[in-house]
Amino acid sequence: MIPLPEPVAPAMTLADALLSRRSHYTYRPLSLTDLSALLRFAVGVQRRSGPHVLGTNPNAGGLPTIAVHVVREATVFEYLREPHALSPLGPGDLDGVFAQGEFGRRADTVVVLSGRMGPGLAKYGSRHYRTAHVDAGVAVQNLYLVATALGLHGCAVAGFSDDAVKTLVGGGEQDVPLVLFVVGRGVPRPGTGT
Ligand SMILES: Cc1cc2nc3c(=O)[nH]c(=O)nc-3n(C[C@H](O)[C@H](O)[C@H](O)COP(=O)(O)O)c2cc1C
Repeated sequence: MIPLPEPVAPAMTLADALLSRRSHYTYRPLSLTDLSALLRFAVGVQRRSGPHVLGTNPNAGGLPTIAVHVVREATVFEYLREPHALSPLGPGDLDGVFAQGEFGRRADTVVVLSGRMGPGLAKYGSRHYRTAHVDAGVAVQNLYLVATALGLHGCAVAGFSDDAVKTLVGGGEQDVPLVLFVVGRGVPRPGTGT
């Protein structure tokens, strides 16, 4: 298990993050400190309510419906929001994952959001298939906004191979990869100093 460093909260205002957020397609390597802040503020623990551990990203019914994996440095990790750590699962080869091959060549770090369908299906029935996609959308917008506030470059990616991602992150029969978020440090724009 790899404990993540103490996250440093970004200073950018929510309004500035919303207005400056973009999808970016070039990335520089992400430090563990940046990754720690990204995960902590976008999909980390916010509070407890009875038996439920609730995240900064709300989930339908407060259930643990979304699994978060991170692929970087040719390794796949599961993000454990408690105790805010990465658990290495095995080798992480991005070959064949992306419909757009340039993501595979340029990506520094890839966050994989999968629907952990079991608890939601048990409680809500097949309707939960729709709700899980909403949960993933909420999480991906958190990732976009926190990445922006931290000065990172990110892009949501729906164009991926289900089989390749399932092989990458493993998971149970009822787990479904829903969306990826490719992220790295921002690449300075010529002449702007940013
Ligand atoms: C759920 C989702 C999936 C996306 N999938 C892809 C993708 O597979 N490939 C890609 O190049 N961009 C993808 N994007 C990025 C969109 O193309 C981008 O958000 C849109 O063009 C608006 O640009 P902006 O994010 O810079 O405002 C995705 C965005 C979202 C929200």
